[in-house]
Amino acid sequence: MEIAYFNGSFLSRDQIHISPDDRGFLFADGVYEVARWYEGFIYDMEGHMARLMRSLKEVRIEWDDADSFPAVAMELIVRNNLNDKPSLIYLQVTRGAAKRSHAFPSPPIPPTVYAFARGFNPEKEMISSGINVILHEDTRWSRCDIKSVSLLPNILSFQEARDSGSFECIFVRDGMITECAHSNVFFVLDGILNTHPLSEKVLAGITRKNILRLARESGITISETALPASSLGDISEAFVTNTSFEIAPVISIDGKIVGKGKPGPVTRLLREKFDAEILALKG
Ligand code: PDD
Repeated sequence: MEIAYFNGSFLSRDQIHISPDDRGFLFADGVYEVARWYEGFIYDMEGHMARLMRSLKEVRIEWDDADSFPAVAMELIVRNNLNDKPSLIYLQVTRGAAKRSHAFPSPPIPPTVYAFARGFNPEKEMISSGINVILHEDTRWSRCDIKSVSLLPNILSFQEARDSGSFECIFVRDGMITECAHSNVFFVLDGILNTHPLSEKVLAGITRKNILRLARESGITISETALPASSLGDISEAFVTNTSFEIAPVISIDGKIVGKGKPGPVTRLLREKFDAEILALKG
């Protein structure tokens, strides 16, 4: 029986009933987080916590118990017997349930908070051998820095990638590469590791932040600048990062082979550094 968290209580999932008037359902008026459990600890929970607080603030949703997120996440791991399983913790906060109106409910109402933890198969071998991706116009809104549950453009673009046998899609806005449907993207160009700078055009990925730190510690030169899609022919490596698959080397973009068509040295080094960090944290 799966136990989930709902508005302050831990309940069997089938006991949870969300109102049809919930603003998450009616307007996608909410934000979310995804964190990873590594059979002993949650990776960079402080980072996920800080990003959640920021998302809530930016969309003006008040969740008085926001600092309970780490405790809720741990409790879900324990109650679902996930201690020894790679798992993802999902948490969503919406502006609550009220009669449909574009204006915020007045007087304010409590938010709806839902969280679950589930074991998953990281498919590390499959991913680390390299993935194919497509390019897609970035059809999202102009506040991609907010981890909003409003993900329709991401979903439609991602499905196009999947329908074409690809694993992910890289977004291009005004000719410049931003990020992917559910990950950040990095390139190696002339030996320099490149990724889009933090701005309203990309999500501040927790994995992105930590990969940049590991790259810096490894003496890799970094450039946080937007790469024109027209420069893709010049790159020697590419990889994408997120909480669930960590680092996935990209071996082709729109059918064109990247570098030697296999994970390159910078990508492999960062993968090793990331794995070593996880191992060290496991103790
Ligand atoms: N997605 N960019 C986008 C648009 C994302 O949705 C995500 C994560 C990232 C990477 O962020 P992080 O490294 O913090 O996971 C970048 C999660 C995994 C999801 O929606 O399921």
